[in-house]
Amino acid sequence: MNKIIIANMKMNLYDNDIHNYIKEINSITLDKNVIFCPTSIYIPYFLHHDFSLGIQNIYCEDSGAFTGEISPRQAASIGIKYAIIGHSERRSIFKENTKLINLKIKATLKNDMIPVVCLGETKIEKDCQLTKYVLKKYLQEVLKDISSDKIIFAYEPIWAIGTGVIPSNEEISSTISFIKQEVIKLINKKTKVLYGGSVNLENINTLKNIKSIDGFLVGGLSNNPEKFIKLVKEVRK
Ligand code: PGA
Repeated sequence: MNKIIIANMKMNLYDNDIHNYIKEINSITLDKNVIFCPTSIYIPYFLHHDFSLGIQNIYCEDSGAFTGEISPRQAASIGIKYAIIGHSERRSIFKENTKLINLKIKATLKNDMIPVVCLGETKIEKDCQLTKYVLKKYLQEVLKDISSDKIIFAYEPIWAIGTGVIPSNEEISSTISFIKQEVIKLINKKTKVLYGGSVNLENINTLKNIKSIDGFLVGGLSNNPEKFIKLVKEVRK
């Protein structure tokens, strides 16, 4: 199966840019495993062009007095299939904790969407050799009372996001295998794990050869349509 490639466009680009962006990406044929997660207000533009769509964040209730939030039921009703949950920026800036992430995963699954659950260690945790401990604890908490095999995980070392620095291939491979083993222990299901954190046109050649990686979560680069197309072509070679 084709590796999954998710464009996490974050809070970037303005209306005009988005129209140009869509024009550019329309110039090639993209399979359904290339998933765009633009800023939420732009999602309908992408839907009109039949791209696979994800939302960068989601709430854990179907409806109600939650100003500014978007529910999985609302997202699913317009054809959004994926939801990024627990991105490190949500955890650090917006103080999301594992309890909320667990509720968001459950609400997303209930609405037949696919949660893309992010996890990763900080630089200090890495330096103190706490990576496996931290990831194990996080997985135990976010997967509490969940047994679905629909979840996709995205291993994103926090220190690699937007920095241009990434772990060695051996480190990535070993951590991804560890995450897969832990998920099997917890929910008895095989899972897909993506890598994210400074994926770019220089490192994609080696990253794509790491067998355990099921795909990529791409941040900064995904806002440049030309570069993003090049990256997709490289992964699909
Ligand atoms: P980056 O972001 O590719 O810019 O490092 C990845 C992410 O935050 O998902």
